[in-house]
Amino acid sequence: MQAGPSAASSGNTSQAILPELVALGPAFDFEHRMRYCRRFRMEFTFAERKLEAPVLPDGYCFVAWNPRDLDRHAAAKFHSFRDEFDSQVFPSLGSLDGCRRLMLEIASQRTFLPEATWLVGHGNSNGKPPHFVDCGTIQGIVSGRDSGSVQNVGVTPDSRGIGLGRALIVKALHGFREFGVKRVYLEATAENAPAVELYRSVGFRLVRTTYKHMQDSPPAVTEGADPTALAR
Ligand SMILES: CC(C)(COP(=O)(O)OP(=O)(O)OC[C@H]1O[C@@H](n2cnc3c(N)ncnc32)[C@H](O)[C@@H]1OP(=O)(O)O)[C@@H](O)C(=O)NCCC(=O)NCCS
Repeated sequence: MQAGPSAASSGNTSQAILPELVALGPAFDFEHRMRYCRRFRMEFTFAERKLEAPVLPDGYCFVAWNPRDLDRHAAAKFHSFRDEFDSQVFPSLGSLDGCRRLMLEIASQRTFLPEATWLVGHGNSNGKPPHFVDCGTIQGIVSGRDSGSVQNVGVTPDSRGIGLGRALIVKALHGFREFGVKRVYLEATAENAPAVELYRSVGFRLVRTTYKHMQDSPPAVTEGADPTALAR
């Protein structure tokens, strides 16, 4: 998950983070009094991995990208991320307006890839509200000559654990492959076990660990306090 096109270049690697804090998730850099979040950059290479077919539970269907559906993607993104730690890492994910701006930013990129951008939901087969309920969203962009990147994948809380996240990722990978890219990147917060495990199980492998500066104000440090507590 990138949260937006600009996040792809999150080179905020800090050398000052204590290794024992890094192991605990969000880390605290005492020297600069800043909080960092550990992020995994993961890669799927078509030549090395077998790509499964996307499978949806009965009654669910994919909705292909249509610019008129921008608000639907924004709402699905907001409901998927609003209560998640990633909305602290990327504050725009924590508000509907922020998600809308993010969607506009993504969809207006020259490199935006409709083939890797999908809604998933259930209710009827034409995929149109009000009788269709959106349950998840994914977006993709082409990020280089041969590569693409998944911007955000999110499934709304009530619809998790039934295979929609996997179906969205796999569907987007098929879109990237049809477009001709050779590898697909994404980023995930290291402590987001469901996401990291999902990507790993589809065939993504870890290629790099980065640290993203968190924009909220750092917690107060009390003299003599347990430093690891700040990293939890
Ligand atoms: C991550 C997320 C997209 C997973 O969606 P989902 O629809 O629940 O996932 P699926 O049902 O397709 O599960 C597919 C695989 O993911 C992994 N997975 C999903 N939920 C998991 C959990 N709670 N713990 C560990 N692994 C999990 C499993 O490997 C699972 O395969 P299995 O069912 O064979 O065990 C969803 O939890 C979500 O939207 N989270 C909030 C937004 C977010 O963090 N997005 C990712 C940003 S990088």
